[in-house]
Formats: sequence, structure tokens, C-alpha cells
Amino acid sequence: MPFTETECRRCRFDFPALARTWNERPLAYLDGPAGSQVPQAVIDAISGYYRTCNANTEGQFPTSRESDRLIREVRQAAAAFLGAPSWREISFGQNMTTLTFALSYALAREMQPGDEIVITQLDHEANRGPWLNLQERGIIVREVALRRDGTLDPEDFARQVTERARLVAVGLASNALGTVNDIALARRLSREIGAWLLVDAVHHAAHFPIDVQALDADFLLCSAYKFYGPHVGILYTRPGLLERLRTDKLRTQEDEAPDRIETGTLNHAALAGVRAAIEYIASWGRGETLRERVVTAMTDIAAYEHGIAAHYFSAVRQIPGVTVWGPDFTTPHRAPTVSITLDGVTPLEIAKRLGDAGLQVWEGNFYAVRPIEVLGLAESGGVVRTGICMYNLREEVDRLLEVLSGIAASR
Ligand SMILES: Cc1ncc(COP(=O)(O)O)c(C=O)c1O
Repeated sequence: MPFTETECRRCRFDFPALARTWNERPLAYLDGPAGSQVPQAVIDAISGYYRTCNANTEGQFPTSRESDRLIREVRQAAAAFLGAPSWREISFGQNMTTLTFALSYALAREMQPGDEIVITQLDHEANRGPWLNLQERGIIVREVALRRDGTLDPEDFARQVTERARLVAVGLASNALGTVNDIALARRLSREIGAWLLVDAVHHAAHFPIDVQALDADFLLCSAYKFYGPHVGILYTRPGLLERLRTDKLRTQEDEAPDRIETGTLNHAALAGVRAAIEYIASWGRGETLRERVVTAMTDIAAYEHGIAAHYFSAVRQIPGVTVWGPDFTTPHRAPTVSITLDGVTPLEIAKRLGDAGLQVWEGNFYAVRPIEVLGLAESGGVVRTGICMYNLREEVDRLLEVLSGIAASR
């Protein structure tokens, strides 16, 4: 059964936050790309952990053993979510940014001055800053150009990946423009010269199924708070690779993957919530295995989100003075995240007026500061971003369009 407005209305009962009103109207959560709301099942899993088995790991008593089992099971669930071969390839951390920094310190130990890292002008700063910092060690960072249509320039990509490249770090989908990047190209170019491929899947993971093995990524990162879970970063590493890296770790810590890059005690309660979020998504799918249910659910939800975002995309550009930034919706592989500017009104002012009307959208650069600079939008305050996720209704977008039309008319 596909995911339609009927299923959306049903799923909305699962998210307690959606019951909130503002001036007697429901709050419209169109801010998902910065973090989605969580279903009751996630809240229950987190509080259930504290109620029944709050303990540190590797003790000889029931709550500790249960915590060990939980962590293993969350890794298994995350492996199913990403299409990883097993739980051994899944590490956890505070968030994607922190894991990327940890990885950057480890990869730097494998590099020499003069080695190159390729990043892009489209990426979130979390997949740029940790690599740019390595310039102080003599590593050269090259940047793939962003075109005005919101896509990366494939010819420039080929130019930037030289035989000195050791790592290509690229996002799967842009949290600012909704572009889905050509990872097959990044893989082909990096493979040709034996460089690692690191994929930032934070934005993509909230909207499309991911198959790390098909992507052939060496590293892939995402963050559960973007897909209805709590604040936990997830790192997939190709089997056998993490063990070879010199990560920052205490001698008391496990040498093996996946623990090797995890410093200190994890947030066990939040991890319980990560599993619940993945199982929640899967509950909308079909199949024998968790993986099958995740993939079918995400595929159906993606089609639903695409329909609403495409409707917003085509309607908003009819409003006089509006410019839409990013690719159009002619391809289904386009994230349901749409950014606009309106001539004569700053993004801050627009977001404030929408916020006053209970329409929650983000303005600015959302840490995707480089694409906003490259598009020449930094001085004028960036863009206004609307994000669609599984619990958003077309009528919320229509409310948004109505208020935006009013702002445009009163300029
Ligand atoms: C595309 C993308 N990459 C990376 C990040 C950083 O994720 P985290 O907050 O888990 O560090 C974000 C957060 O907004 C993002 O949207």
C-alpha cells in the first residue's frame, strides 16, 4: 500500500508534537531538514531505557548485559537502515560533525603534506570544515564548483580529482537546495586513483532509502535526529577499513571496529530511540526483513514527499518576486527541500512573518554556508527553506503559499 495523504493523516497521530497549536491553528512543522519531530515510540524507547536498564556496558549484571545487547541491536537496525553487511560497520557518535572530525584526525595520519582532499561547494560545512582544517598539515583541499542551477559541475569534478587525491568527501543530498548528487561519478573518479569516498548522507537519509554497498562508499555518515529519531550520529565504514585507521582512542577502549572510533560512553537511551525510529519508519513498509520494510517504506514516503514538494515548487515560483534556488522536480531523485528568496524582503523578515503565523521554516544558510556564498546570497541573508517530511500535509504548504503571497503583495 503506497503512502498517501490517508497514511500521512494516520501517522500524524503518532507524533505528539503535531498536536501543538498556535493561535488556534496547528503548528506547521516545515523545519524538518534541521531536525524532525519524533513519534511516541521513540519517546517511549528512550524513557523505557531509563526506567528499566540504565547502566554502563560490559558489567556482569542484568541491566549492563541488556545495555550491551541493546547497543548491538541498534547497530543491527542501523545496518539494515543503510544496507550495511553487518553491525560491525556501524559506529555511533554525538552527531555527524563530531564523527567527521574524529575521522579527519584518523585519516590525516594516513596522509602526507601535498596529498589532496576533494570537497564541494555544495556541501554542508560539516563535510568541509574538518577537511579544510587539515590544510594546516600541508594537505591540499580542492573544491568542486557549484553551478547556478544548484548542481555540481561534473567536468570540474573530474578536474579536481587528481592522482594526488586521497579522499573525495561529497554530500548525497544538499540540505540547502535539495540537489541529489551523482555519487556514481564521485565513486568512479575516486576509484580510478585509489582515493577513499566519504558520503555525507545526513539530508538524504531522511528522505530516501540508502544502500551503502551499491554506493560503494568507504565512509557514510548520517544523523538520526533528521529521520524521526534522537540526536545521534551514525558512521558506516567499509568492512575492515576502520581497524586499519589510527583513531584517537584510550588504551582502555576496544581496538576492534565499530568501537574503535567511539570515545567514552555512548548515549544509550538515545540509541534505544534510534532503533525505535528505524522500526517506526519500517512499520510503514512491507517485507520479511527489517531492511525490506525500511526500503519499501522509504520508497513510498519519498514519492509522497516528492508530490507535496513539487506542488510547492511549482506554485511558489508563480508568486511575483519569488526566485526558487535549486533543481526542479522533473526527476524523482530530488530531495523535498525547497529554498526561495523574495525580492525586496529579507529571508529573516519572511521567516519571522511565517513563524508568527505558526508556519515553522528556516532562513539563512543552515551551515551550508558555501553554496549560499557561491550563489551570491550571503549578503542578503540567504534563503527561506521549506522542508517536507512524512508528516507534512499539502494543506500546510497551501497555508504557507497563502501567507507568502500576502507578504509578496504587501511589499
Ligand atoms: C547535509 C548535512 N550534513 C551534515 C549536517 C551536520 O549534522 P550533525 O548536526 O549531525 O552534525 C547537517 C545538519 O544539518 C546536514 O544537513
